[in-house]
Amino acid sequence: MIDDDAAANRAEWTRTNAEFTDAHAQRAWAADEITWGLFNVPESGLGVLGDVAGLDVLELGCGTAYLSAQLARRGARPVGLDLNRAQLATAGRCQRRFGLLFPLVEADAQEVPVADRCFDLVVSEYGASVWCDPDRWVAEAARVLRPGGRLVFLTNSVLVTLSVPDERGVAQERLLRPQRELGRVEWPGGGVEFHPSHGDWVRVLGANGFVVESLHELYAPADAETPRYYDIVTARWARRWPVEDLWAARLAR
Ligand SMILES: C[S@@+](CC[C@H](N)C(=O)[O-])C[C@H]1O[C@@H](n2cnc3c(N)ncnc32)[C@H](O)[C@@H]1O
Repeated sequence: MIDDDAAANRAEWTRTNAEFTDAHAQRAWAADEITWGLFNVPESGLGVLGDVAGLDVLELGCGTAYLSAQLARRGARPVGLDLNRAQLATAGRCQRRFGLLFPLVEADAQEVPVADRCFDLVVSEYGASVWCDPDRWVAEAARVLRPGGRLVFLTNSVLVTLSVPDERGVAQERLLRPQRELGRVEWPGGGVEFHPSHGDWVRVLGANGFVVESLHELYAPADAETPRYYDIVTARWARRWPVEDLWAARLAR
């Protein structure tokens, strides 16, 4: 039984799948390079994932599972988990199209139906990292990781979340909401997101046995163009302030 926030987010992602992600997925699966975020910052320049060959990987909130696909191509054994059936159906179609099969699990990332200590790496790219209660999903990530395992996740930057209007529109050059209210953010258009401050992330990671390895604050590259569908920032804004936070943490042994 999922809670009301998860149910709202599931409905939101059925809409988004029909509107955008189903059509976009094939292009994302075809990409050679792993990139991060709205402005496609190359993983090769950051080295956050490291060598994933031979690793058991769980992606929490995998959506159309293109990140898992990239990891599978690099020799990992990914499992994609998502609450939304439409997103997983798109992922399944891409698996058949690209001949790259790995398990897809329909479940809530806040209550992961797998045994303790069976993954080496947990990843979330705008998945559980945005849409789930951090106290719940980070605890689940810690439970399913083997000692010494890693957690890598991408989410909106704190600054962009403080600066986007309630109704549609791009981030402004002023703060539009109190940081104290970012923990749980309910958007008027539907959907509930969780945007802890940096201090809160450090607290929740530490409370679950993780040691923070790095926090990369992602900016738009000089030649970036403003995103068309996820239109929360202009390229100009994101060249000046970080639009995303990419965290890496390791579970203590
Ligand atoms: C931005 S998408 C996933 C990102 C993926 N990299 C992509 O773009 O296809 C966010 C995903 O999180 C999933 N999600 C939201 N709440 C969830 C929950 N409680 N448990 C598992 N997945 C959830 C949504 O269904 C959606 O597919």
